[in-house]
Amino acid sequence: MKRFLVIGHNAVTAGNFSLNDMPGGAGRMDILCSCINSCFFLSHSLRDDVECYLLLLGEPMPPKTILIKGDEVRYLNPDERSTGSLLKKALDLPCGEKFRESTKGIYVKRRGLKCLLKDYEFSVLDENGSDIRETENAPCSYILSDNHNFTGEEEDMLKDLPRVSAGPKVLHADHTITVILNELDRRGL
Ligand SMILES: C[S@@+](CC[C@H](N)C(=O)[O-])C[C@H]1O[C@@H](n2cnc3c(N)ncnc32)[C@H](O)[C@@H]1O
Repeated sequence: MKRFLVIGHNAVTAGNFSLNDMPGGAGRMDILCSCINSCFFLSHSLRDDVECYLLLLGEPMPPKTILIKGDEVRYLNPDERSTGSLLKKALDLPCGEKFRESTKGIYVKRRGLKCLLKDYEFSVLDENGSDIRETENAPCSYILSDNHNFTGEEEDMLKDLPRVSAGPKVLHADHTITVILNELDRRGL
């Protein structure tokens, strides 16, 4: 199983956002939708061996974690609006510290980074990290940020994790996922 955890620093944590304003009022929810797209869509099928975790830190109820499981998810389409509406449903669902399913294969809970880091051994995606092409054992679980740098507090929590680079240029988060998945595909992972 491959995993990507994307931190949405301003992504809202209630389902009442407008699908017409995902880049603005919803706190760059559009970036999270693009990351979902990169995690799962192949030309004619879905990647069923990927899990995408979204950590939403915007108002009014941060933190919330949404999990999308490639082997279970239904109703996922490549367009941003329909993905946004699945996220709205997840954020509308009352939830506690354990995952609750909102629609098939999409889960939500009220937990933050500290808790997620206990569950898996993530590597941090960082353009200054070790080049994935030079890494003998490529990791399968990665954490990355949205359009912002990791905060100081996050950096502190991530400081002991391995750092992996997808290449020398700073990429958009969704493109970074695509490059990493391509590298893992080439290794048959
Ligand atoms: C748009 S970047 C975040 C902002 C970025 N630090 C900047 O200076 O504009 C989104 C995220 O993608 C990941 N990323 C971008 N380029 C990368 C690369 N070449 N290798 C590994 N990760 C990368 C990092 O996790 C980064 O936090």
